[in-house]
Amino acid sequence: MEAFDFGLLENDLIELEHNLRKYGSKPVKDEISLNQLFKDHLASGGSRTRAVLALAAGYSQSLEKAARLSIATSVELLHQASLIHDDVQDEDSIRRGQAAVWTVAGKSSAICLGDDLIGAAFEELAQLPPHHIHHLPRLVTMLSRGISVMAAGQTIDCQWTPESRISFDDYEQIVRHKSGPLLGLPIAMVLAIADGSDEDVLQVLAGASSIGVAYQLADDLSDQAEDFNQRLNGYWVLADNLTDGSDPEVALRERFDWHLENARQRVRTLPPFCIEAFEVLIQALHQKYPTFQVAA
Ligand code: IPE
Ligand code: MG
Ligand code: MG
Repeated sequence: MEAFDFGLLENDLIELEHNLRKYGSKPVKDEISLNQLFKDHLASGGSRTRAVLALAAGYSQSLEKAARLSIATSVELLHQASLIHDDVQDEDSIRRGQAAVWTVAGKSSAICLGDDLIGAAFEELAQLPPHHIHHLPRLVTMLSRGISVMAAGQTIDCQWTPESRISFDDYEQIVRHKSGPLLGLPIAMVLAIADGSDEDVLQVLAGASSIGVAYQLADDLSDQAEDFNQRLNGYWVLADNLTDGSDPEVALRERFDWHLENARQRVRTLPPFCIEAFEVLIQALHQKYPTFQVAA
């Protein structure tokens, strides 16, 4: 299969940035503007991976621009909300080299901005062109369930303490929940608009969750030193559970490979645009963590 031509998305990505910057409520009186906070947060960059997945999948499926932008903006808003909330939960003061929203405006404003963006994600879906409106009940349900799964993952992740002794299976369940939904939704929503079956949509979500676990494993290996005794980290969970003295990094890389293979298997018989979108996601993973090989 030929690699996706990202040049096709140049105009879409400009419009995406314009769309995102509309959100975050305006000041009630002279108080803090959530819109300005959000613009400052967006200015720190970000890969827009989830938006690109929706745009690429939508493009390959010949969805018109308004439809692919509606899905892309919706999932990107949710992703940004999840990061803003996550930094409050983790009490991380830096996001992409810039002060995290809560350190600038306080935890309450950061929580309110995240809430505002979650609402905006549904508003963006409602921008789907009229001839797709009959898909909205299904898409809204998918979005809502994705938020639920992510919230479940974050709940357990945040309950972790250095005293917690968890199995590696439990670790994978947690990270699958917190990172999977927003990677799968952009592709699954395009599939839903293409009248994909519930079963196929579930395969996309399950496969993308596996890529989510792979992302987290790569991230945890690179953060192993700073996470020690501070955060749930797959490297240390493996170190805790491997009783035969074997190297946790070797086991971690084996699980990484297993998850990519599992993801590819799950979409193998699905429409080609799903396979292509998974490869876009896997390449993005490789670019972020070059020491992890992702060859087909
Ligand atoms: C990010 O999780 C937030 C979600 C997946 C909802 P982490 O806390 O593990 O990742 P970073 O390092 O802050 O981005
Ligand atoms: Mg975090
Ligand atoms: Mg976190």
